[in-house]
Amino acid sequence: MDIQPIIKIEHLSSGYNGKPVLKDISLDIYPNEIMAVLGTSGCGKTTLLKHLIGLLKPDKGTIKLFDKDIVNIDEVEFNNILKQVGVLFQNGALLNSISLGENIAIPLEQHTNLSPDLIEYLVRLKLKLVGLDHVYDYFPSELSGGMRKRAALARAIALDPKILFADEPGAGLDPVTASSLDTLLLSLKQQLGMTLIIVTHETASIKRIADRVTYLHDGKALFSGSLSEALKSDVSELRAFFHSSE
Ligand SMILES: Nc1ncnc2c1ncn2[C@@H]1O[C@H](COP(=O)(O)OP(=O)(O)OP(=O)(O)O)[C@@H](O)[C@H]1O
Ligand SMILES: [Mg+2]
Repeated sequence: MDIQPIIKIEHLSSGYNGKPVLKDISLDIYPNEIMAVLGTSGCGKTTLLKHLIGLLKPDKGTIKLFDKDIVNIDEVEFNNILKQVGVLFQNGALLNSISLGENIAIPLEQHTNLSPDLIEYLVRLKLKLVGLDHVYDYFPSELSGGMRKRAALARAIALDPKILFADEPGAGLDPVTASSLDTLLLSLKQQLGMTLIIVTHETASIKRIADRVTYLHDGKALFSGSLSEALKSDVSELRAFFHSSE
């Protein structure tokens, strides 16, 4: 069996204003897996995600999505790749001046030629998937924090992406809501065949959904392996990460 990675990062180094943040990271992510990216606050998790969606350019190294080098790529081709990628940002970022339904419609309006009726139908379908079809007309300010997270997820998957990046999707949610969000993320993998890269601090969530784990520390990928290897790893930082929450 010879499965090619859907994301391939090789020797990625990068930083802000000359201050290094990511140091020589190499990492493969395979189709239809959930990769959890862990590490203490400020270690570079969000920075890594931003490179994977082309918001930041590395100082050194290569990043391939779907076997295409996204560091040296023309804009048209990159936009085509981005259509197959969904992103759930750390802060959820819905536009407050328009309704929830209109928020979810944005990617469909921007990237497809579908009729308004069909777009509304698809938006309602996605909202139903995240349990929010009853608040289609609400404004984001009228939603709870957990609802906003789910709404942002509905927007991230509006175009049925092959890859979903999610930066702390469960942060700030109560355990029951967090668990149902995990069920939803798992179903994206199992039923829709997505590949998910999830930044999280929630140990319970990692144990529920991760296939593999990468632990970033001081800008390096200190550990990368299966969930079961991670849980019994003797890398002291990783042990501390898992045991501090027990
Ligand atoms: N736009 C920026 N300009 C300058 N420095 C930045 C910028 N964004 C992040 N940094 C720095 O880069 C480092 C990594 O930040 P990053 O946001 O990637 O961390 P993180 O692992 O996502 O943390 P958290 O778990 O708190 O979200 C931090 O030292 C941070 O101060
Ligand atoms: Mg972050």
